[in-house]
Amino acid sequence: MGKMGAVLRTKAAFWHSDILVVADPLALWHIDVKNPNDYVKSNLSRALVRRLMGESLVWAEGTEHKKLRAAFAPCFSFLKVREMESVVLKAADMLVGSMKNYIIAMQSKTSNKSLRSNPPIIMNLSGWTNKATLDVIGRVGFDFDFGLGESPEARELSRIWEEQARESATFAGFVGFLAMRAFPFLASLPIKAMEKQSAYKLYVRSIGSKIAGSKIARIQGEDDSKDDSDIISAFIRYSRKEGSEASVDKLLDHFTTFIQAGNDTTATSVNYALLTLAQHPEVQTHLRNELEDFGREPTFDDLHNKDVLKFLDAVTKESLRMFPVGAHSERVALKDDYCHYRSLSVLLMVVF
Ligand code: HEM
Repeated sequence: MGKMGAVLRTKAAFWHSDILVVADPLALWHIDVKNPNDYVKSNLSRALVRRLMGESLVWAEGTEHKKLRAAFAPCFSFLKVREMESVVLKAADMLVGSMKNYIIAMQSKTSNKSLRSNPPIIMNLSGWTNKATLDVIGRVGFDFDFGLGESPEARELSRIWEEQARESATFAGFVGFLAMRAFPFLASLPIKAMEKQSAYKLYVRSIGSKIAGSKIARIQGEDDSKDDSDIISAFIRYSRKEGSEASVDKLLDHFTTFIQAGNDTTATSVNYALLTLAQHPEVQTHLRNELEDFGREPTFDDLHNKDVLKFLDAVTKESLRMFPVGAHSERVALKDDYCHYRSLSVLLMVVF
């Protein structure tokens, strides 16, 4: 990108037609925000999303997508997110507490052997942060307690997710993805990495079914005017508007999607931020000084105001910019198009 610019055309593997890689913010806005109906998800990405999450917001297109967005929007309003503050802080507190305990326990084991006090401990952060983010999405989204990663459900989920990530990170997983783009039918073959993805979805659905059925039955009977802006109530209202009964099967797809989209994305973003801080101790010290000078636990409103903790705001934004968890998403242009980006213009061709 540094050499070729923010829009480039590249060859694709296995006789697939050329691909236009777009990284310019204005062109991305043109594609994703202004004209989403002209740039649909590829058959492959929809097949993969269906396998991993089911037919929900990430999978839907066109009018269905628009209606679902509107239906779930009240669950993520400014006020609603502010209400999540205590849950997020509690999960962060519990995480810090259990990490401290782990470090102390490991240090005492090591120091006995080496007679060193406070030896450095190497920890794999990813297992830890996921516990906190899963806890938060479980509580705020579905009133479900994952016990800060210690409940049997959370442990099993983490085991399946790790297995799936290991299979996808192999060379076969990499080539498989390229081959599937050219031959989408491969997505339905019993490939190991893909089966693991299904296993994750099936397990999340089994957790969801424990809570969804009874909640639907309870909420179904309730008055429409009740301001219940949790995800399950939003889905029931959406179904009523569409003139149908809320289907547990469809709800489980939404449950799976929010659990997945809200968990690993956030944990991975936190992990990259912490890794980068560890690699840049001077930045870490600057940030610690800013937080210590602040003198109290920042509230949601403090964090939402970019002028309150300026350095924290900059570190967070820079980290999200440098390590975007959704760095790559595929769209297919349904027709030839023309758009402006920065001072130039770009001709967007049909890529499939
Ligand atoms: C640091 C945290 C997060 C990052 C970086 C992130 C990033 C993204 C990106 C890049 C997309 C667009 C994907 C595409 O169009 O191909 C997306 C979509 C989505 N995210 Fe997140 N996300 C984060 C947290 C969350 C959380 C906490 C939730 C839920 C509670 C969530 C739910 C969703 C959903 C439902 C979609 C699909 C939206 C649609 O198709 O209209 N995400 N996210």
